[in-house]
Amino acid sequence: MNTLSRRKFLHLSAATTASLYLSNLSAMTIHNPLVSNILTRQIPKCEERIPIVGMGTWQTFDVGENAVERANMKKVLAAFVEMGGTLLDSSPMYGSSEEVVGDLATELGVLKQLFMATKVWTTGKNAGIDQMKASMQKMKSDPIDLLQVHNLLDFKTHIQTLRKWKAEGKIRYLGVTHYTDSAHDDLVKLIETESLDFVQFNYSILSRHAEKELLPAAQANGVATLINRPYESGSLFRKVKGKQLPEWAEDYDIKSWGQFFLKFILSNSAVTCVIPATSKEHHLRDNMGAAFGAMPDAKTREKMVKVLTDLE
Ligand SMILES: NC(=O)c1ccc[n+]([C@@H]2O[C@H](COP(=O)([O-])OP(=O)(O)OC[C@H]3O[C@@H](n4cnc5c(N)ncnc54)[C@H](OP(=O)(O)O)[C@@H]3O)[C@@H](O)[C@H]2O)c1
Repeated sequence: MNTLSRRKFLHLSAATTASLYLSNLSAMTIHNPLVSNILTRQIPKCEERIPIVGMGTWQTFDVGENAVERANMKKVLAAFVEMGGTLLDSSPMYGSSEEVVGDLATELGVLKQLFMATKVWTTGKNAGIDQMKASMQKMKSDPIDLLQVHNLLDFKTHIQTLRKWKAEGKIRYLGVTHYTDSAHDDLVKLIETESLDFVQFNYSILSRHAEKELLPAAQANGVATLINRPYESGSLFRKVKGKQLPEWAEDYDIKSWGQFFLKFILSNSAVTCVIPATSKEHHLRDNMGAAFGAMPDAKTREKMVKVLTDLE
């Protein structure tokens, strides 16, 4: 008689549960109380609201055909959707990331729940069009929710295509991105002259240049903001290694340094959504935790900065 050992039975049950869980994720999120509690903010020019924590894909989703790494990123994406996340930010510059996002979202059955953002990163009208069509195919998203000119590369050419595509319904929103303080003046000029939907840029608890003009300009002109490099690509964690969170962090539902850094950013009212990247499910759950609960006020924000600068 073919009997199953208890260990093998438990192993199979766990695998079946995991696969049922992953295949039914779409249905499960509808009943998940976390999803309904997640904080959202309005895209200023319209009625649509998005959850305040999204996810970047640079490096983390660039795993090509590697089955083990794909399985790992599938867990990260599943946890993201389970906790109520929707906005994913990619680019043709990020290797296989667009394709991996599209494949994993399809496997999980969550494509329709996601807000897909990607970029155009090339020069010339036709090269831009070809690249954006390829991105839509890879991300399995037509229309794509947001297309951004990556690092302002050949902005004047691509913005014309983006406007036409938006009018034709091929994309829902258009925007621009950069990742250095030195580009902030250029971003401000575009915000004031080009009627953008989104602007994406760097901002963190120790890199506050965006507070001077860029964030106020976006707010005054009704442009949604996506914040990249919120952890300065991870270096903020090295600064606080071995350090305890201040006790008052609890008053703002902050349970980790990751949430401390993200809630600092999110407590600026001109921020629409922050997009940390991670390759680890437990970090993803930690990051998403910043999308719930109380937000620091202006006085507390200054205290938060002091905690970091005192370490320097
Ligand atoms: N020009 C542009 O358009 C531009 C430029 C830069 C970035 N971006 C976008 O912004 C996204 C975010 O920026 P980024 O990827 O440079 O860096 P980031 O989000 O500031 O930091 C990512 C790093 O933080 C670590 N991390 C994440 N969550 C953590 C947690 N809870 N605890 C401890 N460590 C944690 C990650 O490691 P683990 O994998 O170990 O978690 C990774 O090393 C990018 O992925 C991209 O989508 C756009």
